[in-house]
Amino acid sequence: MAAGKLMRALQYHSSGGGIVGVKHVEVPIPCPGKGEMLLKVEATSLNPVDANTHKLKLLLRPFFSRNTLIPATDVAGEVVEVGPNVRNFKAGDKVVSVLGFFTGGGLAEYCIATEISTVHRPPQLSPAEAAALPVAGLTALLTLTDKFAGIKLDGTGPKKNILITAASGGVGHYAVQLAKLGNTHVTATCGARNLEFVENLGADEVLDYKTPEGRALKSPSGKKYDVVIHCSRVAFPWSVFEPNLSENGKVIDITAGNIRAVWTIFVLKVTFSKKKLVPLLLIPKGDDLKRLVQLSEEGKVKTTLDSVHPFSKGEVAWSKLLDGHATGKVVVEQ
Ligand SMILES: NC(=O)c1ccc[n+]([C@@H]2O[C@H](COP(=O)([O-])OP(=O)(O)OC[C@H]3O[C@@H](n4cnc5c(N)ncnc54)[C@H](OP(=O)(O)O)[C@@H]3O)[C@@H](O)[C@H]2O)c1
Repeated sequence: MAAGKLMRALQYHSSGGGIVGVKHVEVPIPCPGKGEMLLKVEATSLNPVDANTHKLKLLLRPFFSRNTLIPATDVAGEVVEVGPNVRNFKAGDKVVSVLGFFTGGGLAEYCIATEISTVHRPPQLSPAEAAALPVAGLTALLTLTDKFAGIKLDGTGPKKNILITAASGGVGHYAVQLAKLGNTHVTATCGARNLEFVENLGADEVLDYKTPEGRALKSPSGKKYDVVIHCSRVAFPWSVFEPNLSENGKVIDITAGNIRAVWTIFVLKVTFSKKKLVPLLLIPKGDDLKRLVQLSEEGKVKTTLDSVHPFSKGEVAWSKLLDGHATGKVVVEQ
């Protein structure tokens, strides 16, 4: 369909940060392979991982035949062409998809999505709302599963006290809403300007992270946490978490890619500590995305859009992502 035609895209540029990290380019429209589809992108949301993999992708680019320099994994769009073996989608379908972490490709007019990581988009969700869901929503959903927090989203199960840090961010704002579907008492941290926002998400008590209590993660009602879902980009030493945990409490750290976290996990293991630090890395699954889309369709999970930027100003969205102070999700619309 599109062989030889060009499309607009934003591509990694200099290895420096800020607004100059991406530039507008014209590149060939990609072709879908086996099990893949070509989507016309309607909206794309940005995640910290898009910026965190910037240098690595520039470094590894020569080793890949496909263009891996277009950031962003979270897209909503329309199927324009299906590759061989695609069974459940056809041209014209409205979809939401999570693209590969390494391939990315969402900040463009068209992108390639695999069938297994794509679900139909219900009309109740706008393209921007749907594009906001994948990485942030799936990470929040994963933190609550049996392997991690063990919260049942139907409200059954024993009551658990949960702390969610950076509850105003992309992952955090979904995590609060999902946690409150279960039998939980939720304490949350956020900045002063977002206290009311996080309370309205359903948190039972909210701490300003700049106050002494917020820095110490102390529950205002004196609760000890059974689970901490640590979403703040700021790393905390174990000595801050430890006194706030219940006897078998655990910290699920979605930001644990640092040497201090690795050391803490090692020390807790060799000292047979009942309290645990558990790192989490999202491997997105189509079935989970389907569940998340359904929860949104039912109104059980709502998306807050920090800001929606036109594609022509995509670099402004990029700089907003790097800034680390979004309330909800940053989205780029075509
Ligand atoms: N492991 C995985 O698979 C995985 C998946 C997704 C994300 N992540 C990681 O998870 C982290 C969060 O991602 P995200 O998309 O939610 O980020 P985000 O949307 O950029 O988070 C921004 C929010 O964090 C708040 N914040 C900043 N410093 C804080 C602090 N010290 N205490 C409490 N809140 C604070 C900001 O509030 P203010 O504006 O008021 O400062 C803002 O609302 C990132 O490090 C990301 O790389 C990991």
